[in-house]
Amino acid sequence: MMDSVIGSGKVTVVTGAASGIGRALAEAFATEGSAVVVADLDIEEAERVAASIRAVGGDALAVAVDVADAASVDALAAAAIARYGRVDVLCNNAGVSTFNLMTDQTLDDWRWVFGVNLWGVINGLHTFVPIMREQGTPGHIVNTASIAGLLSGIAFIGPYAATKVAVVSISETLVQELAIDATPIGVSVLCPSSVDTKVMESERARPAELGAEQRTEMAESVRMMIRDSFTGPTGQTPATVAAAVLEAIRAQRFWIVTHPDERPSVEARAARILASFPDAQAATTA
Ligand SMILES: NC(=O)c1ccc[n+]([C@@H]2O[C@H](COP(=O)([O-])OP(=O)(O)OC[C@H]3O[C@@H](n4cnc5c(N)ncnc54)[C@H](O)[C@@H]3O)[C@@H](O)[C@H]2O)c1
Repeated sequence: MMDSVIGSGKVTVVTGAASGIGRALAEAFATEGSAVVVADLDIEEAERVAASIRAVGGDALAVAVDVADAASVDALAAAAIARYGRVDVLCNNAGVSTFNLMTDQTLDDWRWVFGVNLWGVINGLHTFVPIMREQGTPGHIVNTASIAGLLSGIAFIGPYAATKVAVVSISETLVQELAIDATPIGVSVLCPSSVDTKVMESERARPAELGAEQRTEMAESVRMMIRDSFTGPTGQTPATVAAAVLEAIRAQRFWIVTHPDERPSVEARAARILASFPDAQAATTA
């Protein structure tokens, strides 16, 4: 049984912590006594979140970060270490999406989504794993993927789905590699479906030089449909998802799948793959 990585004297860094799931994670860790680094591109909102955590007796530091920029992530780690001297939990959570058929997505759309969702996780691991390893104490890394990472192909969010599949893959590789020398750092990958956040308004975090996102009418109506599902019967609150994350860390569970209604879709995809194996095909033609 590993020592707890959550609680008094422990430090959690959360990216994308000014809003939605990241904010709920920061609040949940703070409630449990961890000091939290509230890291986000939107520093004003991050400051507000940190202030609201401190107002109820928690310990929080807001830090501006662009997770797509390796130097900025290095500066985040430096700020966390300067203030708290250690990092016990890293939540690579910042993420964005565009909405269009892939053929209508610009190369800048792809670059932006890959920069934040994929390079954000790569930069986070590249900067923080050596620091956490060097500490020699138990730690935990949570990468926020999505149910899209398990479903893989999803019309209108092609770049997003591709990055989330990659985040699942990187997480699965990380857990294997940390086991090679028994590094005491746990790994979890968070795969939620609809959560009531501002992810459908990701564009607010899009760099101005990329220009405004141009969606077709059809893509815009799909975006609104997804948005509606956030508050529908299968939607969850960020706080519910954050509670599942803390529970999974304590249980040392890798997969964090939050939405039971997605099971049939994941099963159907797995069944299609299994049915395409030569032995399965031979069985159906025999
Ligand atoms: N909401 C959902 O239904 C849902 C489902 C599955 C996965 N997710 C994932 O959850 C994570 C959190 O998203 P959310 O739903 O809370 O959305 P959100 O928009 O409410 O929060 C995302 C936060 O990330 C920040 N951010 C954006 N670009 C950044 C950058 N370059 N550097 C640092 N911070 C940046 C934003 O400022 C914002 O505060 C994302 O990875 C998202 O893909 C969300």
